[in-house]
Amino acid sequence: MCGIVGYVGNGNGVDVVLEGLSRLEYRGYDSAGISIKNENSELEIYKKEGALKNLRALIAEKNLTAKIAIGHTRWATHGGVTDYNAHPHGNEDLVLVHNGIVENAVELKAMLKSEGFEFKSQTDSEVFMVLVTKYFKAGATLFKAVTTAFKLIRGNSAFVVMNRFDDEIIAIKRSAPLVCGENETTKEMFVSSDAYALIGKAKTLYFPQDEIVCRLNPKKASSIEFFDLDGVPSTKYLKKDQDMNLDITEKGIFEHYMLKEIHEQPTLIESFSNYYLSGDGLGLLSNLQNLKPKSFQITACGTAWHAGLVIKNFLESNVRIPCVIDLASEFRYRNPILHKDEVGLFISQSGETADTLAAQELCHENELKTVSIVNVEGSTLFRNCDINLLIKAGIEIGVASTKAFTQQVLTGYLMSKKLQNQLSDVSVKQELKTLKIRIEEVLERAGEIQAIAKEIYEKKGYLFTGRGKYYPIALEGALKLKEIAYVHAEGYAAGELKHGPIALIDKEMVNVALVGPELFEKTVSNIEEIKARKGIIVTFGPQNDKILEEISDYYFGLNFEGLDDLSPVYINVVNQLLSYYIAKYKGTDIDKPRNLAKSVTVE
Ligand code: M6R
Repeated sequence: MCGIVGYVGNGNGVDVVLEGLSRLEYRGYDSAGISIKNENSELEIYKKEGALKNLRALIAEKNLTAKIAIGHTRWATHGGVTDYNAHPHGNEDLVLVHNGIVENAVELKAMLKSEGFEFKSQTDSEVFMVLVTKYFKAGATLFKAVTTAFKLIRGNSAFVVMNRFDDEIIAIKRSAPLVCGENETTKEMFVSSDAYALIGKAKTLYFPQDEIVCRLNPKKASSIEFFDLDGVPSTKYLKKDQDMNLDITEKGIFEHYMLKEIHEQPTLIESFSNYYLSGDGLGLLSNLQNLKPKSFQITACGTAWHAGLVIKNFLESNVRIPCVIDLASEFRYRNPILHKDEVGLFISQSGETADTLAAQELCHENELKTVSIVNVEGSTLFRNCDINLLIKAGIEIGVASTKAFTQQVLTGYLMSKKLQNQLSDVSVKQELKTLKIRIEEVLERAGEIQAIAKEIYEKKGYLFTGRGKYYPIALEGALKLKEIAYVHAEGYAAGELKHGPIALIDKEMVNVALVGPELFEKTVSNIEEIKARKGIIVTFGPQNDKILEEISDYYFGLNFEGLDDLSPVYINVVNQLLSYYIAKYKGTDIDKPRNLAKSVTVE
């Protein structure tokens, strides 16, 4: 969703901000803008709807340079996609960029209008800007004006503000991502909504807690300063060395990040196994075991929710611990029954998904211990939970989550093994090793999956079906396909077809049947039902099987030997490749599908 980059220092802030914004393109956006303070201490604002290249074209002739600059990529919430609604918002005295939603914008706007203030856009962000301006014009410092305004707004937001009088940036947030960075050698200071924008620039990163004000002013202090809302210096931030390098952000030999990330999975499984079976992860799993969970409340969104469904199966079938699983966006509004002795488990790649954060907050308020399965260290979820199980997936740039799903499920698997006191069993290490090999084999046969995609990519619709442990994979397969190929796809429990969706079947409907060794015959019967109605059958199932070969129009045989709990992850990789190649034939924007954002930071 919206991306923020800010800079103060002696270099050219325009280059830093534009480069940072281009790194944030993967998050999804529909307009972009930049504001600078020029040599005459005037504020200039440039913004343009559409891709960042439109903004670059707008300022191309101007040769802009500035020691202080802020920029933004906008994903529309309040107000349409227009140049006016793009950020920064400001006037001759101050400018700001915003990520999030001001929930009481309507009433604040009415109040400000009645006081004579005027508005140019339909955005809630402008409301905050006008509010800050009101206090600033009345004589408050920028710091005071921002904090006074911030106390009046409701909702989750991050703001980055600068003015024409000082070389200073003020940043603040509530349940929205924000990271500050500094390079002690060059005396440059940075702020962003995503540490990824600061790779190669900041050497030290600071992740402030909610309602902590960050002041970036190299002339006043050699380091970034943090205060509470009343201006009292604060240590409520996490400090971390920047340890990412730019290599990990390159596509290398792959045409898309999604394909690169699919191919990274075998290597990740190996490093992940070392981390949890003999490295630092061991202690984290022990901490979880020490909580002695009696039941789990699992909450997540999208692909992470699908990972949660697989993890629920591990915890219930193997450990026999009851689990309730909810979509985070539903959880908080259904008045859930929560007990102190339950453990709240939150699954998220970004650790910034607004609904998942709200679910964690609700559990915390109800005195549940909270545990995350999360990728981004230092993210809001990471900072808010009692225990964090890192999935160690590295940065995931493709909007469609692939490797993160695999790593989330594997983390849940090891968690369940720890709770069963079986983590050190040879079979655990062996199954992870086998999974790595099986995925490598699938990747080597990617051409076969591409050939199937070529045959079916123009069909009317796609029904992914599976039973038992493969049902969540059917849901995930359908989500992946619809988000990147823009086709209608549904995931269904194979046994449920007769209760409705079978009416969709005709010769233009594809059934991607996910078949494992368990419930084999029952699943085959469900395929027969579709076949009888002329549906096109694509089967991913046990290899060298005569029955499957006969009933399928396209059959991709799989070797399940040595895989038990982890077989859903194995089939899922085949789904990932199928979606990728269908999308490629469709010619869609695979890494940045329309309307989507990598990290959904609004409700
Ligand atoms: O960062 P999170 O894991 O919390 O994100 C949750 C969903 O938004 C995410 O999984 C989404 O469904 C993906 N785009 C699916 O590929």
